[in-house]
Amino acid sequence: MSYAPETLRALKRDASQIMARYPSPRSALLPMLHLTQSIDGYVSPDAIAFCAETLDLTASEVSAVATFYSQFKRQPNGQYTLGVCITSLCGLMGGDAIYERLSEYLGVGNDQTTDDGLFTLEKIECNAACDYAPVMMVNWEFFDNQTPTSAVEVVEALRAGRPCRPTRGPDQVPTFKEVSRTLAGFDDGLANQGPSAGAPSVVGKDLAAAQGGTSVVADAAGSAPAPGAADKEADK
Ligand code: FES
Repeated sequence: MSYAPETLRALKRDASQIMARYPSPRSALLPMLHLTQSIDGYVSPDAIAFCAETLDLTASEVSAVATFYSQFKRQPNGQYTLGVCITSLCGLMGGDAIYERLSEYLGVGNDQTTDDGLFTLEKIECNAACDYAPVMMVNWEFFDNQTPTSAVEVVEALRAGRPCRPTRGPDQVPTFKEVSRTLAGFDDGLANQGPSAGAPSVVGKDLAAAQGGTSVVADAAGSAPAPGAADKEADK
């Protein structure tokens, strides 16, 4: 392992905290892999060796897990992962067009990273945000009701270092390394920033409550205007 002594000390300290959450050390592998991504920006050979040694696993066992889940990267990831949902609903609502526009704009294909190391573009499957289709995730923060134009605007804002606020979630998109540490289970202090659910997600509940708690099916007229609707018109 080629971690600097100070980095290795911090890794071991954090790994101890993670392992203390589980009855068996090997159960800590998933958050441990996120932790190493918060250092290296991907699951590096050093990360494999560190996890194996710390959790009493073989390197093959660690690699088998790291290659199974798409959230674990086997090559240096961009500072921002742009995940464009191309599952049926989002794809039909514009996700395919968003992906194509971003791919052309950034000059990269699926699971590739821009030369400046800022962006990794990914096609992703349904993120259970179908009521905001088409959805783009930036480091797993939601950008709802996107269009090709608005998606490029998000990229331009991130590239320029301008404020870039997800539709829901924290006030500013965290970096890949920052969100990796959060996924390892370390509090980022961002909980409760921004809305967690928008109007389309709760319209059925609100209508049911208004009708005395009976179950209802929301009609389109009862839904809140979709954010980004003006952009969609512009992109037609
Ligand atoms: S189909 Fe895209 S979030 Fe469900």
